[in-house]
Amino acid sequence: MAKKVAVIGAGVSGLSSIKCCVDEDLEPTCFERSDDIGGLWKFTESSKDGMTRVYKSLVTNVCKEMSCYSDFPFHEDYPNFMNHEKFWDYLQEFAEHFDLLKYIQFKTTVCSITKRPDFSETGQWDVVTETEGKQNRAVFDAVMVCTGHFLNPHLPLEAFPGIHKFKGQILHSQEYKIPEGFQGKRVLVIGLGNTGGDIAVELSRTAAQVLLSTRTGTWVLGRSSDWGYPYNMMVTRRCCSFIAQVLPSRFLNWIQERKLNKRFNHEDYGLSITKGGVFKDTSKDKFDYIAYMDDIAACIGTKPSIPLLFLKDPRLAWEVFFGPCTPYQYRLMGPGKWDGARNAILTQWDRTLKPLKTRIVPDSSKPASMSHYLKAWGAPVLLASLLLICKSSLFLKLVRDKLQDRMSPYLVSLWRG
Ligand SMILES: Cc1cc2nc3c(=O)[nH]c(=O)nc-3n(C[C@H](O)[C@H](O)[C@H](O)COP(=O)(O)OP(=O)(O)OC[C@H]3O[C@@H](n4cnc5c(N)ncnc54)[C@H](O)[C@@H]3O)c2cc1C
Ligand SMILES: NC(=O)c1ccc[n+]([C@@H]2O[C@H](COP(=O)([O-])OP(=O)(O)OC[C@H]3O[C@@H](n4cnc5c(N)ncnc54)[C@H](OP(=O)(O)O)[C@@H]3O)[C@@H](O)[C@H]2O)c1
Repeated sequence: MAKKVAVIGAGVSGLSSIKCCVDEDLEPTCFERSDDIGGLWKFTESSKDGMTRVYKSLVTNVCKEMSCYSDFPFHEDYPNFMNHEKFWDYLQEFAEHFDLLKYIQFKTTVCSITKRPDFSETGQWDVVTETEGKQNRAVFDAVMVCTGHFLNPHLPLEAFPGIHKFKGQILHSQEYKIPEGFQGKRVLVIGLGNTGGDIAVELSRTAAQVLLSTRTGTWVLGRSSDWGYPYNMMVTRRCCSFIAQVLPSRFLNWIQERKLNKRFNHEDYGLSITKGGVFKDTSKDKFDYIAYMDDIAACIGTKPSIPLLFLKDPRLAWEVFFGPCTPYQYRLMGPGKWDGARNAILTQWDRTLKPLKTRIVPDSSKPASMSHYLKAWGAPVLLASLLLICKSSLFLKLVRDKLQDRMSPYLVSLWRG
């Protein structure tokens, strides 16, 4: 009998969890406390229900090729960075395409999840839900908690001595939807994360004065990088990750800080309060992304084997190693392998450039060519290649070990020389 899985929440994570259950012949039931899918991407005019949701002007900060589901690319016409409505449309398309809606019970809140008395033998859970005031109890073999990171607002008023004497309005960004209502007011925005930055900019067009406070400073990155290409696609690359592992972090930091300060000097803007430290963490996070994803992928057997790929399909391997590490890479092999992954990887730049070309200008209709790529990435590629050659004994050993089982003993002895 199929195992029953309770999925809590029908946001980005809940939807993919339902789909994965179906893919694995499990029987999912998703409980969603609101009346629609999309979690925080479902905009509402008010925040009366206490849910964290996007504010009206929100635009995604991760481009479409990097933030899509791994087997469901965005349609080529979607902009690289989109407003929340478009992003929600995509989630709806995903849910409809894979027929996921039938597994969701809306307006149903999960109240408790407890181990059953015979849990040590069965591994089963008691799940209590509430739908329009009526409680229900059901038994599940597994529970997937997809309730989001930003469920509860963090309002650390105790960190601001004397705040209770303040007579004005104090609100958490969770309650912020639109700038109307702030006309003529003096506003202090605390915290320079993406939310703080966005809201401060937006309010500055309506309020009398806006002050933006930061305790540790920040490095400001644009959505677009050199040549106007999405920033994430330019930096989240296996070759960059490889270079970051072999080069001293001080040197890397120096290059990256220099590049970021070229746009505007962070020191002049009072943003480099903990200079060095902030950036060190940020760059580490950035480059660790691929290592983190690979670690998880290795556990389930979906980590792409670059040496093997170079032998079997050099064109694809080139794009996987030197191009952006898009989610499709984890659908190339192993469980959940998707036949469309290769094509999705080889056409990711076409989909990126498509929405930019709303009119055809002579000679501009070609997608990014290999030569263009080489121009953009020539230096890093060269450096990575040199480092690869230096490490070639390790590389060859890896390939040899991988192939040993598949090759005849004669070929193996030839290989070893
Ligand atoms: C303002 C903002 C902007 C963001 N922008 C980006 C971006 O541009 N790019 C990006 O990649 N990420 C962005 N993020 C990160 C965001 O967290 C993810 O994109 C994504 O929405 C997380 O999805 P989720 O399914 O984990 O959580 P959520 O979207 O929060 O969904 C959780 C769901 O669980 C339901 N739920 C919770 N508790 C219960 C319960 N007890 N019973 C039943 N249902 C329950 C909720 O109703 C909700 O539908 C942003 C986050 C915020 C706050
Ligand atoms: N698509 C978009 O453009 C967009 C827009 C908004 C949010 N998001 C996403 O939503 C998520 C949450 O972003 P967020 O900006 O809301 O949260 P965040 O990144 O956690 O930033 C919160 C900010 O509050 C500050 N802070 C926390 N406690 C404080 C205290 N006690 N005193 C002073 N300052 C304090 C932090 O300062 P320190 O840095 O000093 O700790 C930080 O700058 C992120 O994943 C983000 O990418 C995306």
